[in-house]
This record gives sequence, structure tokens and C-alpha cells, in this order.
Amino acid sequence: MFIRWSDIFKTHIEIIDEQHFKLIAIINELYSAYYKGTYSESINEIIGRLTECSVNHFDTEEKILDEIKFPAKENHILDHRRFKKVIDQFSSSNDIQSDIAFYELFEFLNDWFMNHILVKDREFIPLYNKHFSKKTN
Ligand SMILES: [Fe+2]
Ligand SMILES: [Fe+2]
Repeated sequence: MFIRWSDIFKTHIEIIDEQHFKLIAIINELYSAYYKGTYSESINEIIGRLTECSVNHFDTEEKILDEIKFPAKENHILDHRRFKKVIDQFSSSNDIQSDIAFYELFEFLNDWFMNHILVKDREFIPLYNKHFSKKTN
């Protein structure tokens, strides 16, 4: 297991937590395929799901950023595009099966979780809460 889901990942925005949970599950699947030796036959299928799930997640998040008028939206979106670009480059590279490609990908994913999910995705929570508590009052 590469990343163990824990409460520190929670934003307490249900849809986002669900999608982050799914992303982590797919990344863990890729990680264990590598160590179980099933990597070469399953990599394309797993990367396909990772791409689909992340695109779907970014779309959800970006709609929320739009709705709550998050001031740093553009910068946040750029970081989402960077993720997509790295995964696309990885999936279209000729040495996708190599150990180096694997280690580079997981170094990036580790960095992504530390800096995006645990930092950037938390930055809009106060505004989200303010926006939606106002609506229900
Ligand atoms: Fe996110
Ligand atoms: Fe995000």
C-alpha cells in the first residue's frame, strides 16, 4: 500500500472525500500490481481508470471553485492540469514498464498528495463552508 487513507485527508466535503478516496485506491492498486508482478498486463487499464477518475474529480472541484468564487482558482486549476499532463506523459511514454518510469511516477504522486491534497485542497474549505452555510441560513 502506497498511501493509507486516514482522517488527515478529509476535507469534510463529502463528494471530494469520496473522490480522493477512490483516487488513492487506484494509486494503491497500481503500486501493488508493480510489487505483485502483474504490472505489465494491468498498467494500461489502471492508468486509464486513474485518468478518468482524476479528470472527473478535477471537474467536480473546479465547479465548486467557480460556485464559491475562490480567488486562487486559476492557480488551483493549473495544478490540476499539471497532474493530467504528467499522467498523460507517463501513459504515452515508451518505457512505461521500466523501473525508472515507475519510481518517477510515484515520486510525483507522493509530492502531489503532500502538496495538493493536503495543502491546496484545504485552502478553499473555509470559503466553501462560508458559502454553503450562508445558503442554508
Ligand atoms: Fe482534490
Ligand atoms: Fe484540487
